[in-house]
Amino acid sequence: MIYVLGSLNLDYVARTRVPKRGETVLADSFETFCGGKGANQAVAAAKLGCKTAMIGRVGADDAGKRLKANLCTAGVDESRVLEKGADSGLAMIWVESGDNRIVVAPNANFRFETREIDEALADAKEGDILITQLEIPPAIVLHALKSAKAKGMVTILDPAPAVPDLPAEIFSFVDIIKPNETETEILTGINPTDEVHIALAVKKLYALGVTKAVLSLGKRGAVCAEGQTITLIEAQNIKVVDTTAAGDTFVGALASKLGAGFDFVTACRFANCAAQITITRKGAAESIPTLAEAEEAFELTKNEKRKTKND
Ligand code: RIB
Repeated sequence: MIYVLGSLNLDYVARTRVPKRGETVLADSFETFCGGKGANQAVAAAKLGCKTAMIGRVGADDAGKRLKANLCTAGVDESRVLEKGADSGLAMIWVESGDNRIVVAPNANFRFETREIDEALADAKEGDILITQLEIPPAIVLHALKSAKAKGMVTILDPAPAVPDLPAEIFSFVDIIKPNETETEILTGINPTDEVHIALAVKKLYALGVTKAVLSLGKRGAVCAEGQTITLIEAQNIKVVDTTAAGDTFVGALASKLGAGFDFVTACRFANCAAQITITRKGAAESIPTLAEAEEAFELTKNEKRKTKND
């Protein structure tokens, strides 16, 4: 079973050139989508075949209803998503040439109490997986990671968005961390530009206390590190439509395969294929592939590899 503790946001997405200071621009299009890093990761894990429960907070508003309905549609257990006396979280997203810029107003996502985390994880057991990120209060993240490790769960932290002054203790309760390039630099002081710097950054992440690391490197793909072994997983050559939720898909997909008993590197390869599909589509949760789509893409990369070996 996968538990995802994190944010639910309604995403307000404008496809536009990003305005300069003091400038007003007219967007090419505007749409709303269901998002939030936590919710996207839960949707990915459930769509990709795992029993998944979301622990989150929404407001008693239309956005909250829509965000909960979105979880239900994807097959996520949303009974631990509670309505709190605040507006639902929202994200303002600018998409320009496929890349995004995001500003999040957490609102209800910050209305957690530690007692409620204990209740939400009451049924969790050894071998279950806890995924969390940083769009909710760090103290809640720390408490949940501690409780999860006490129960023998596997913990995955997506350290996004990068939060300054994160309690250092957090990392000792993290089995797998998945920072992107910016987050890697903020956490380690090293920009993972090449093999040497990737290895140095991984060493620093281990020194913080995590057991395994996956660095997502945008157009360069991803790197997964376990002990002394660092494996590069190349990105495919695809048309980028919108990168929103690609990292979230990766995390949910990784957990889904680990939950099904696959080894770390295979799970990362599958996660990379799933994330690449997300990039070819608009929106957040809506852009996450089904299990059949992700499996098909994964098989294709395996065939590609066999072909290259035989050439
Ligand atoms: O990772 C993408 C997500 O970040 C968006 O859905 C937005 O809500 C922000 O949380």
